[in-house]
Amino acid sequence: MNSDNDNSSFNKASADPVDSHSLSNLSDETLAVRAGFERSSFMEHAEPIITTSSYVFSSAAEAAARFGGDEEGLIYSRFTNPTVQIFEKRLAALESAEACIATASGMAAINLLFMGTMKSGDHLVCTRNMFGSTVNQIMNLLPRFGIDVSWADSFDPDEWSSLITEKTRYLFLETPTNPLTEIADIKALSDVAHSRGVKLVVDNCFCTPALQKPILLGADIVIHSATKFLDGQGRCVGGAVVGSAELVKELTSYMRSVGPCMSPFNAWVFLKGLETLSLRMHQHSRNAQTLAEWLQSHEAISVVHFPGLESHPQHALAQKQQKAPGGVLSFDLKGGQKAAWALIDHTQLCSITGNLGDSRTTITHNSTTTHGRMSAEDRHKAGVTEGLVRLSVGLEGVEDIQRDLDNALSFC
Ligand SMILES: Cc1ncc(COP(=O)(O)O)c(C=O)c1O
Repeated sequence: MNSDNDNSSFNKASADPVDSHSLSNLSDETLAVRAGFERSSFMEHAEPIITTSSYVFSSAAEAAARFGGDEEGLIYSRFTNPTVQIFEKRLAALESAEACIATASGMAAINLLFMGTMKSGDHLVCTRNMFGSTVNQIMNLLPRFGIDVSWADSFDPDEWSSLITEKTRYLFLETPTNPLTEIADIKALSDVAHSRGVKLVVDNCFCTPALQKPILLGADIVIHSATKFLDGQGRCVGGAVVGSAELVKELTSYMRSVGPCMSPFNAWVFLKGLETLSLRMHQHSRNAQTLAEWLQSHEAISVVHFPGLESHPQHALAQKQQKAPGGVLSFDLKGGQKAAWALIDHTQLCSITGNLGDSRTTITHNSTTTHGRMSAEDRHKAGVTEGLVRLSVGLEGVEDIQRDLDNALSFC
C-alpha cells in the first residue's frame, strides 16, 4: 500500500532527497533509483530488507487504533511492510500513478484486481491475444464467480465499444501482447471506456514504464508481472496493480483478508531491478531490433512479429505510443512445430524456458508451454500457431545470439 504516512516508523528528517522534491520534476532515471525511500535512524544508504511478520505497538490503545484504522501505521506484513512499500511508491512514481499495491505474482495482481473489485453479475471485455494464464483465469475462473466476459477479436475501438454493456466494469488488455506483440491504441480505447463509464486496464509487462506509460495515455489501471523486465534477471516472482489511491485502498482491504502479498526480499530484488530498468529496456530493444531485421529475411521463417519492424501492422502506433519497441519478438517457422522444436533444441546460448524479460535470451515454444492450457481453437484464434517461437532478447552481445540462432535455424 502506498500512502504518505505508511512509513511513519522512518525518520522523516533523513528522507532521501527525492522525497523533498515534487516527483513530477524528476526524470524516470532519478525516480528509478531514489523514489519512495525514507531512511531509518541508521541512515542506511541502500534500501533495507525489513523481514518481520508483525510490528510492535507502544500500548494496547495504539494497537487498537492501528487495527481499527484510526491511526496510520504498520500492522502486519501481509499488507504493510516497509521494503514492499518502497517498491510500491517507486513503481507508482514511474507509472505516473497515485498508488500501487504489490502482489505475490503477476497472476495474483490480475486476480486481486478482479476479485477485490468485481462482484457476481459484473462484466469485462478483453481479447484472447494475451498471456495464456491470463486468458485461462478470465475464461475459466471468473465465470465460476458469476463474472461475465466478452472477447474482442481485434483492438478495433468500435468492436470494443459494441461489446460494452451496462454491467461492464473493465476493458482489459496487454500491449504489446504476449507473444504476438500486437499493439492496442491505449488512448483510443481509454476514450471508448470513459465515454461509457468503464475503466481501462493495461498489462504493461512487455514495455514497463521505461518505454510506455499507459496512465498518461488515458488508462486507469496498470498491471505488472514484476517477474519479467522489472526484475530483469529472472530471480523472483512478483506483481503489482497500479492506479488511483482509492483503488489501492480497496485492494489493500482485500489483500488484508486474502493475503497474496509480495515478500520483502522479493520487493528488494525488484527495487534493485528498477534501478537499471531504463538502461536495460533500451538495450533489450536495440538487440531485438537487430535480430528481428535479420530474422525476417531468413528462408525458414514466414513472418516475424516485432513492433520495431516496418512490416508490423501497428508499427506507426508503436512508434507514437512507446519510447522503443521492447525486447520481445516472435516468429513463425514454415516447418511448423517440428521446425520450432528443432530450432529450440539446437540453440546453445539461448535458454529454453517459459520466462521472459531476463538479461539472458530466452526461447519458448508458446503453443506447448505458456499457452498450452488454452484449447487448440482458442490458441488458433489468438494466433499462437504450432510454428510460433518467442524470443525474449537478452543483454548478451547481439552477434552471439545471432550466431546461435543461425546455427540452430540450419536444422529447421
Ligand atoms: C503479459 C503477462 N502478464 C502477466 C503474466 C503473469 O505473471 P507471473 O508469472 O508473475 O504470475 C505474464 C507471465 O508470463 C505475462 O507475460
